[in-house]
Amino acid sequence: MPPAVAEYLKSNQDRFLEELQALLRIPSVSADPAFQPAMQQAAAFVHQQFESMGMTSEIVATAGHPIVYAEWLKKPGAPTVLVYGHYDVQPPDPLDLWTTPAFEPTIRDGKLFARGATDDKGQFFTHLKGAEAWLKTVGELPVNVKFVIEGEEEVGGANLDKFLEERKSQLACDVAVISDTSQYAPGIPAITYGLRGIIACEVTLTGPKKDLHSGVFGGSVANPVNMLCRLVAQLHDDQGRVQIPGFYDDVLELTPAEREQFAALPFDEAAYRQELGVKELSGEAGFTTLERRWARPTCDVNGMFGGYTGVGPKTIVPSKATAKITCRLVPHQDPAKITKSLEQFLRTRGPAGVSLTFTDFHGCPAFVFDPNSPYLTAAKAAIREGFRAEPVLIREGGSIPVVSTLKQILGVDTLLLGWGLNTDNLHSPDEHFTIADFHRGIASGAALWSQIAKL
Ligand code: BES
Ligand code: MN
Ligand code: MN
Repeated sequence: MPPAVAEYLKSNQDRFLEELQALLRIPSVSADPAFQPAMQQAAAFVHQQFESMGMTSEIVATAGHPIVYAEWLKKPGAPTVLVYGHYDVQPPDPLDLWTTPAFEPTIRDGKLFARGATDDKGQFFTHLKGAEAWLKTVGELPVNVKFVIEGEEEVGGANLDKFLEERKSQLACDVAVISDTSQYAPGIPAITYGLRGIIACEVTLTGPKKDLHSGVFGGSVANPVNMLCRLVAQLHDDQGRVQIPGFYDDVLELTPAEREQFAALPFDEAAYRQELGVKELSGEAGFTTLERRWARPTCDVNGMFGGYTGVGPKTIVPSKATAKITCRLVPHQDPAKITKSLEQFLRTRGPAGVSLTFTDFHGCPAFVFDPNSPYLTAAKAAIREGFRAEPVLIREGGSIPVVSTLKQILGVDTLLLGWGLNTDNLHSPDEHFTIADFHRGIASGAALWSQIAKL
């Protein structure tokens, strides 16, 4: 990047961090309607950022939370890059496990603690600052850029897809960039070339029309909580393989070369166990930990409830029991097909004596990037500039639904350039972002524009 841009990044570091803190103070929790005003406020904040750096920007209302769109298209003939990010965050709960409050950003130990610090406010913000540095010094960018910053990523919202479809021609681009993943490890930045997909659903079993005295009536009717446990227990065999019929039929198996590539990455199993607080690792037999996380499909119960969950005993046969279930999918698995098989599985194994309702929340397919794309070369060079370290190619187990939509609707691949760490407590208490990674991310982002222009 030009020396003036690098100089600007250096001398504005403190202000960048203060602005990020201002954004983090806005509790933009997309899942909870009580936070609706904060969603508007966060969108307005992002919009104002674009305006003040001289980009054309608008807040687009949707049936749900607004989308902020901005563009700078004054480089005809140069490539066009679309940057995606999300200003919504996960709920901060459980609140009592935060060292300092989730929406009062606090610096400790070179890290900025707040909900959204790394997922995704702190990460997408780097690209705004990278663009700002060019516009405020050189006066222009070496490429055309379009920004889409949405507010429903964490709830798998459908409104973004509609926006992308409606604005298909306005959003035309050559490549997309998302910073919403992680580095491989501290000091080892990464380009993520694959993500898992997901399906999310809920199953409820209903027995008696109300909770019953378990002494008086127990033994004479099916207990929905007992039945749900039996059902859920059938999802896996003792080798950790998912028992939904056809679950593995379309799975794209890892190539020997990929397995070697995974195995060559440094991985300290003992440190991993300790980080997670488990005595032993567990998963599908026949696969390594990285393979299980990045390239094998899974099925997990995210939460289960029913009956009495308060303090002390209560003697009832509950009326209802619910399980929230997600499956992570790998390339070639079809979310709709897997959802159907899961529902079918639950219904056929579902015990007599209770009724079953099934709710399908959302889903998206997995994604793998073309390993021969020239954009990979540009991204590697940009990260070398910003992090002063060699990036590794990895996959990730998480999902970013827009990635497959961008491919489907706009026909483009997405560069997943994560500046955070998986140990940044995303979706957990004490979420944080290493401040040095924030600034390295900004520098990599600023360098990316010129690296892509050079291709
Ligand atoms: N940024 C994450 C996804 C992520 C995190 C990918 C770390 C790779 C490494 C994203 O915000 C997220 O949480 N996605 C959800 C998607 C779901 C709500 C549709 C997920 O993966 O659970
Ligand atoms: Mn995210
Ligand atoms: Mn997230």
